[in-house]
Amino acid sequence: MTSEEATRPAEAPGFEPMRRRHLPAVLRIEHRAHPKPWSLGVFNSELSQGADRYYVVMRAQGRVVGYGGLMFVVDEAHVTNIAVTPELRRRGLGSQLLAHLVRQARRRGCASMTLEVRMGNEAAQAMYRKFGFVAAGVRRGYYPETGEDALVMWLYEVGSEELGRRLGELEALERGRERGEGTGH
Ligand SMILES: CC(C)(COP(=O)(O)OP(=O)(O)OC[C@H]1O[C@@H](n2cnc3c(N)ncnc32)[C@H](O)[C@@H]1OP(=O)(O)O)[C@@H](O)C(=O)NCCC(=O)NCCS
Repeated sequence: MTSEEATRPAEAPGFEPMRRRHLPAVLRIEHRAHPKPWSLGVFNSELSQGADRYYVVMRAQGRVVGYGGLMFVVDEAHVTNIAVTPELRRRGLGSQLLAHLVRQARRRGCASMTLEVRMGNEAAQAMYRKFGFVAAGVRRGYYPETGEDALVMWLYEVGSEELGRRLGELEALERGRERGEGTGH
């Protein structure tokens, strides 16, 4: 078994609502995922916001391997955070997590989704584009610690049949990738 196979999730990841007991594992990933990680206090505050928020952890191999969150504003779902543990990236987990968040926004009847992403974060931007997010503007100097600009991205017609089909296709593709069926690269 190669080291890559040893770390590949053996089965489809599971999702469960984020709870305070998950936060030690979430924070370990958070500190490796973002230049300015959220503190325990920020996560606790987000988890106490009730129905205006949705936070989920993704589990594989019996542990938390990623997480994500949404903030609902009228009929928009704002992606507040999304991260996958570094050693399991580029195996489709981020896409499955984002698909889960998009499905949640559809269940809530949201018309659109939006997010801010660092201008230099090409990996995340590429993932969002796969789902149909489009760049819609720039917030200059949005990240005060580095002065970096944020790209604002939107996904429209979240409830459409077309997006439902696209989600199904993406999920099938990523499940195939987990089983080692390959994606052509
Ligand atoms: C963004 C993130 C969640 C993606 O997770 P992941 O498990 O690697 O995502 P996937 O394997 O599903 O990749 C989805 C797509 O993203 C793009 N992508 C992911 N990593 C990439 C990289 N290093 N370079 C270029 N594109 C990349 C690709 O288009 C990829 O699809 P492909 O593998 O079919 O080409 C992960 O990189 C992460 O946790 N980053 C740190 C936190 C972060 O930046 N969050 C977003 C803040 S807005």
